[in-house]
Amino acid sequence: MRVSCAVIPGDGIGPEVVTEGVKILEAAAEMDGGFSFDFEWFPWSCQYYAEHGEMMPANGLDILSGYENIFLGAVGFPGVPDHISLWGLLIPIRRTFQQYINLRPAKLLKGVQSPLRDKAPGSIDFVVVRENSEGEYSNMGGRIHAGTPYEMAIQETVFTRMGTERVIRYAYELAGKRAKHLTAATKSNGINITMPYWDEIVGEVGANFPDVQTDLFHIDALAAYFVTRPESFDVVVGSNLFGDILSDLAAAVMGGIGMAPAANLNPERQFPSMFEPVHGSAPDIAGRGIANPIGQIWTAKMLLDHIGKEELGSALLDSIEAVLAAGVVQTPDLGGKATTSEMGDAILTEFRSRG
Ligand code: NAI
Ligand code: MG
Repeated sequence: MRVSCAVIPGDGIGPEVVTEGVKILEAAAEMDGGFSFDFEWFPWSCQYYAEHGEMMPANGLDILSGYENIFLGAVGFPGVPDHISLWGLLIPIRRTFQQYINLRPAKLLKGVQSPLRDKAPGSIDFVVVRENSEGEYSNMGGRIHAGTPYEMAIQETVFTRMGTERVIRYAYELAGKRAKHLTAATKSNGINITMPYWDEIVGEVGANFPDVQTDLFHIDALAAYFVTRPESFDVVVGSNLFGDILSDLAAAVMGGIGMAPAANLNPERQFPSMFEPVHGSAPDIAGRGIANPIGQIWTAKMLLDHIGKEELGSALLDSIEAVLAAGVVQTPDLGGKATTSEMGDAILTEFRSRG
């Protein structure tokens, strides 16, 4: 079996961590023996924008549509406004390819210190399912009367039945395979049109999953619970904005943004899915070879799961955890002095020993 994968390293630390992720994926295929990756690298980034005036060529999406997977580092760099880099590459990929699920696991691994006091390894273990195609991140709206005292800006929030049902159903199905507990983020007290609609659909879809316990919490209280009792969550589903904020909070709780993985999934596999860490291009540390590659490597684990290689995926997460637990090789964000490639190599060695 050949698995096609477009690689977009992007900007800043993106290329540094992607190199480590690809090394691991190549090793995974070799260890398995039953498949191989066809990687194709694309230089689309802010540097590409500086040279071409666009983040990717006009037929960029057509090109990507020919791949089963996209492995992405991070996009964005000082000098190019973030809304250009984001809307010129990432958002069109997520939207065009109906990657309506943004999956972000948060797990406290051995050897990692959560910023929350007294948390045992494994005690925090949940997944945020973020709606990734509509909601608050719609580009419907505009400005009127610019430069006058009655200047105004409006941006509409969009909740379609199809878009809402499918993300909630996905989250319930995932909860059914895990600890059977779904938490939905709402704010139906303040946002009194779209959020009651969201809640209603949670109720409708949830009726088909009687063995899954459902909690519906207002986003403000839920944010506090992420800090006061993160152990109590299993699967958390939120709209685009709520899911975005919750997943960064989740990344912090599990010990740092450098380790948090994410996947943008088109569950029907009609289009490519995209795997990228939660973190950005980290311009403050870019070019020094000290970024933590674990977020990217854990993202590679999610890619392995997606292509049906769950055993390799579990072995990879175990390898990450073994290296963290040993505490010998640590990048500066973890308190050590190791480089990006030393960390990547340590995980690779551990991973191969499990093959
Ligand atoms: P960021 O995630 O790049 O950095 C935040 C902080 O975390 C920085 O201090 C950075 O050094 C640190 N950090 C991030 N990843 C790390 C790693 N792997 N190892 C060690 N430390 C790490 O977020 P920021 O600074 O808000 O954004 C920088 C650029 O990245 C912006 O242009 C932004 O738009 C873009 N960005 C892109 C994303 C994507 O491509 N999906 C996601 C988030 C931001
Ligand atoms: Mg975010």
